[in-house]
Amino acid sequence: MYNEYIETACRQFRTLIEEQIARTENMEQSAPPKDFSSLDQITVGVIGGDGIGPLIMEETQRVLETLLADELATGRIALKKVNGLTLENRLSCGQAVPDDVLAEIKSCDVLLKGPTTTPKGGSLESANVTLRRELDLYANVRPIQIPEEGIDWIFYRENTEGEYVLGSRGVEMPGRLAIDFKVTTEPGTRRIARAAFEYAKVNGKDNVSIVTKANIMKKTDGNFSRICHEVAADYPDIKADNWYIDIMTANLVNPAIRKNFQVFVLPNLYGDIITDEAAEIQGGVGTAGSANIGDQYAMFEAIHGSAPRMIEDGLGDYANPSSLLKAAEMMLRHIALTDKADRLAAALTACADQAPTGFADGPTCREFADLVMGRLQAL
Ligand code: IPM
Ligand code: MG
Repeated sequence: MYNEYIETACRQFRTLIEEQIARTENMEQSAPPKDFSSLDQITVGVIGGDGIGPLIMEETQRVLETLLADELATGRIALKKVNGLTLENRLSCGQAVPDDVLAEIKSCDVLLKGPTTTPKGGSLESANVTLRRELDLYANVRPIQIPEEGIDWIFYRENTEGEYVLGSRGVEMPGRLAIDFKVTTEPGTRRIARAAFEYAKVNGKDNVSIVTKANIMKKTDGNFSRICHEVAADYPDIKADNWYIDIMTANLVNPAIRKNFQVFVLPNLYGDIITDEAAEIQGGVGTAGSANIGDQYAMFEAIHGSAPRMIEDGLGDYANPSSLLKAAEMMLRHIALTDKADRLAAALTACADQAPTGFADGPTCREFADLVMGRLQAL
């Protein structure tokens, strides 16, 4: 009586395997990374998103317009608003990223994006997951700093594989069982490992923590760990340590040892979870920026979601734009505007203790942006 389900599921599994094999072949033929320092003009796509997204984006854009006044005037940088990546439009088109929006996004060089809402259940995929896949943004880079504790962490989360990429493609036998799939590919792991170790090398770090659950997920995480160690062999001055995600989650709340960690490399889902924890240790998810880096495109965003509850409670104006401002700083670094990035970083550090708290007794998002702009002008 189950035969029909089993046949359908097997056909679907076959398609998934074929698609993933094709993906590995494409990865092996990918073009060399784009060199932003050599471009005459860089188009930054600006996407507001849902919930608090458009509010924190408006303020971030004002700050960028101050900081990049010269570059915007000469046309070296263009800020281009990309419309249509809203939950309403995505639902009405029945597409996680509608085709026309994706085409517009692809006409930009880099993206600054507010959080987008993903409906639970249903078949609509997360816009983030779609964009990460479509633009092949394989490295999710998330820095966390707590200078007073000597903490300077950077997470290299694999961003195009793991549970995420096939998370909307599972099989289900209603009333009986459901199965999702997780994938780890050889070139997909090798490139994130390479990115993490290169970062460590270029930035004088001597330790990379490889975080998996390879004792349980023997194929996927087992291979992830093995490949990371193979890449590590090319970096003899950097120590590569193995950790399991559960104990690493505990380690991050242990002040006696956490400052010893430097660079982390880890599969997609673990990276998602632990970076929210790390951001909370830094001062809240509203304080952390996130970069999604690929060889041709890059997308910069807040680490957190669209906070629909803040909007329902009428607290949108009190949202903290620091996360998106940090993302903007990472974007400036990525497009080789290092001085501008340093200035923004300095202004954000100077104003950090006056950031919105998300509650109506604190400063508003706009007041905070004004403060940051004032700082920028004084620097
Ligand atoms: C993140 C977010 C996303 C993720 C969501 C919005 C799909 O939590 O960037 O960490 O799970 O990756
Ligand atoms: Mg997350």
